[in-house]
Amino acid sequence: MVMATALVDYPAPTYFENSPILTKKNHSVDHNHGAVIAKQMIGDALRQRVESIDHESCDPGDEDTFFVGDLGEVYRQHMRWKKNLPRVKPFYAVKCNPDPKVIQLLAGLGTGFDCASKAEIEQVLNIGVDPSRIIYAQPCKTNSYVRFVASQGVKQMTFDNADELRKIAKLFPDAELFLRILTDDSSSMCRLSLKFGASLDATDDLLGLAKELGLNVVGVSFHVGSGASDPLAFLKAVQDADVVFKQGYAHGFEMKTLDVGGGFSGDTFETMAHVLREALDEYFPPHINIIAEPGRYYVSAAFTIACNIIARRTIENPITGETSYMVYVNDGLYGNFSSIMFDHQHPVAKVLRTGARTYYDSSLGDAVSEGTCTGTEYSIWGPTCDGIDRITESIRFDHELDVGDWFYFEDMGAYTKCSATKFNGFSDAHDVIYVCSEPGARAILRL
Ligand SMILES: Cc1ncc(COP(=O)(O)O)c(C=O)c1O
Repeated sequence: MVMATALVDYPAPTYFENSPILTKKNHSVDHNHGAVIAKQMIGDALRQRVESIDHESCDPGDEDTFFVGDLGEVYRQHMRWKKNLPRVKPFYAVKCNPDPKVIQLLAGLGTGFDCASKAEIEQVLNIGVDPSRIIYAQPCKTNSYVRFVASQGVKQMTFDNADELRKIAKLFPDAELFLRILTDDSSSMCRLSLKFGASLDATDDLLGLAKELGLNVVGVSFHVGSGASDPLAFLKAVQDADVVFKQGYAHGFEMKTLDVGGGFSGDTFETMAHVLREALDEYFPPHINIIAEPGRYYVSAAFTIACNIIARRTIENPITGETSYMVYVNDGLYGNFSSIMFDHQHPVAKVLRTGARTYYDSSLGDAVSEGTCTGTEYSIWGPTCDGIDRITESIRFDHELDVGDWFYFEDMGAYTKCSATKFNGFSDAHDVIYVCSEPGARAILRL
């Protein structure tokens, strides 16, 4: 099933938490089976689109980069979450990928949402999500946004310093506050603790001030850094949160919720979840609610991108006699590959179409193994004027690629489209072709 973005009008979300679709026996959605179906659907969508475009005659924009988004993958990740972290309610971090269909599906699955701005909060409220399912998880908030959330009844928010407490006391004294604490995020790809988080030296005073101001602290939050790789960071953060909970009780607060933030990735999820689960059970009794703010985990693998080669420059090596190519594609670091700059990613190109053949999910489209000098060498560049706009420094394929050919890149769902710019006049609004490889997700979205 392939649906063009604009054609699908999804209904308001239905809360499916207790639906038969999500009963225990169905939690073990067959990941492998689903993944096989997903490959077929994604391949069909990619194939249909690229095989319909003739770069010799198409209109401007027809050959633009596009995504294929598999909503079934988001659904499978949710089932995996529930299996591994049954105690932890996910509040999806909208900033990671505010794709409306992803938000719609997650709303239907009953998740909450971590929002960082008025626009994100509005997006979630506008599809009918209850304000109690939103946390405004930005420790340093804009005054007018605080007034906005007060008017909308979005009560949960984070803070990490005294100035912010005074702001909240003035603008929204009824807010339900989470004290965000510092973590050791040294093992993560994107460190956040340089900017946010109160150290344990400061938490007791902050709680004292919150009490003095008549505020309502209900919990603690932390983030171990996006793309974290050391599960022990979760253990240490949970231990620190336990200390702050005790400080909170001593100040007379009814501490009821721990927010364990984001930092989860598909590759390491089971290991991270195991450590976190055990730490939570050791330090936090069952009456404490546990929430999290996963972003990347839900969407990274759900989106594949296809880019067209728009220009090629031939390079002859006078010493070896080897011919290599610089190829220029219609997306780059200022576009959906912003993840290379901002998210420390290394997207890997695969050949999608060349010589009138399409190679999705075939070893024939893969790069030749690193270290071997067979095939032809390419560097892959974005379309803007900036020399920094390079996707891949060196990669080899057993194909002679030329203008009009296509690459695809997998795992392009996290921190990509949301941080694209229009630099040099290129679009930041690329099509998403949606597929849905899980019947459970189709039922929720009423497809
Ligand atoms: C406060 C907060 N919560 C959640 C996230 C999502 O993190 P991740 O995508 O690593 O799960 C971020 C990412 O920057 C964040 O800043």
